[in-house]
Amino acid sequence: MRLTELGEGTQDTRRRAALNELVPDPARRAEVEAVLKTLADARLVTTEKDTAEVAHEALIREWPALREWLNENHERLRVHRQLRRDAEEWLHLNRDKGALYRGARLAQTLDWANDYADEMSLIEYEFLEESQEIHQKEIEAMEKQEEDRRVLAKDFHDEVISPIAALAMRVNFARRLLERDPAAAAEELLKIEELARKTTRGGRKMIFAFRPLVLESKGLRAALEAMTEKIQETFGQEVVIEVNDNIIAQLDMGKQGVIFNIVDEAVNNARKHAQATHIWVRLKPSERGLALLEIRDDGIGFDMDKMKSSYENRGSLGMINLKERAELLNGVLQLQSKPGAGTRVSVHIPLTEEATEIILHRS
Ligand SMILES: Nc1ncnc2c1ncn2[C@@H]1O[C@H](COP(=O)(O)OP(=O)(O)OP(=O)(O)O)[C@@H](O)[C@H]1O
Ligand SMILES: [Mg+2]
Repeated sequence: MRLTELGEGTQDTRRRAALNELVPDPARRAEVEAVLKTLADARLVTTEKDTAEVAHEALIREWPALREWLNENHERLRVHRQLRRDAEEWLHLNRDKGALYRGARLAQTLDWANDYADEMSLIEYEFLEESQEIHQKEIEAMEKQEEDRRVLAKDFHDEVISPIAALAMRVNFARRLLERDPAAAAEELLKIEELARKTTRGGRKMIFAFRPLVLESKGLRAALEAMTEKIQETFGQEVVIEVNDNIIAQLDMGKQGVIFNIVDEAVNNARKHAQATHIWVRLKPSERGLALLEIRDDGIGFDMDKMKSSYENRGSLGMINLKERAELLNGVLQLQSKPGAGTRVSVHIPLTEEATEIILHRS
């Protein structure tokens, strides 16, 4: 059957097949060669060094046994033909994952393979197996994401929603106490204040859970590249990324998430406020055990003292977030800016316990 080309609504025709295709299993090579020799002797097939072909086109129609096989098996042959072409294409593309099967086609071909595994060549087998494995991994990744979302929803409920509901209840109680027993009301208000502070901390912790999915699946570099692409697309602002993969490999997902958030804030500050031509993001090795994260722009800069003195009244959170996030990394944040001279945000991040000790000691 490998010696025929299935017509799509037209007549089936003959097809030259490589010897390797006809041998399903190297151990059976001699067997296949013997059959081919018998067929060649009977002039049903012509063989060359590494290929074989049905001797005449007419044989496809007139050879009763072959005709019957073809009619009976049209559908399954079609599946197999497709598999063979796609497996070859995959091989041709250096086993490119994008060329593997997924979805309905994978399901259909696996169904087929369940019944006709013997007919598969080694490469077809590898192609299907690899497709199957990737498909399995994708399912597992989706399940994990689902689970993560569930945990996230629960944490959000525990850390934020419940405490706020409790706050509302207590405020209500305090309001009614106010007239009856002002001293008790004051005490209640103190508890409310404490709870409000605790809720803020809980909520802040949650921010880090909302990191982009691409960070989770592909890591910091991919997440930063996706972010800068979007900025380029939306605002036409160029952001140059130079990050050291060696350093990234030494950071767990939590830390990568915090670094992403720092870069996100600093880059967006530069984009919004600096009127910069260039924004650079660098992550590189520094002194022993330290990494240096740096976000720099060549924009208008700002007066840091002025900004600091009016910060309380601004209602903005960017700088506070930078500071808190640097602390989460046990890092040291430095901010440099002058009107007309651009802005530089840098964080020294310890990568080892020893480096962490030294930094904590210093500050
Ligand atoms: N790269 C920069 N270039 C010029 N000015 C900056 C830069 N980064 C910060 N600033 C100045 O510092 C101020 C404070 O920054 P911050 O990130 O705290 O607030 P914001 O960006 O205005 O608000 P938010 O971050 O809460 O959205 C900004 O409003 C801006 O005036
Ligand atoms: Mg900001």
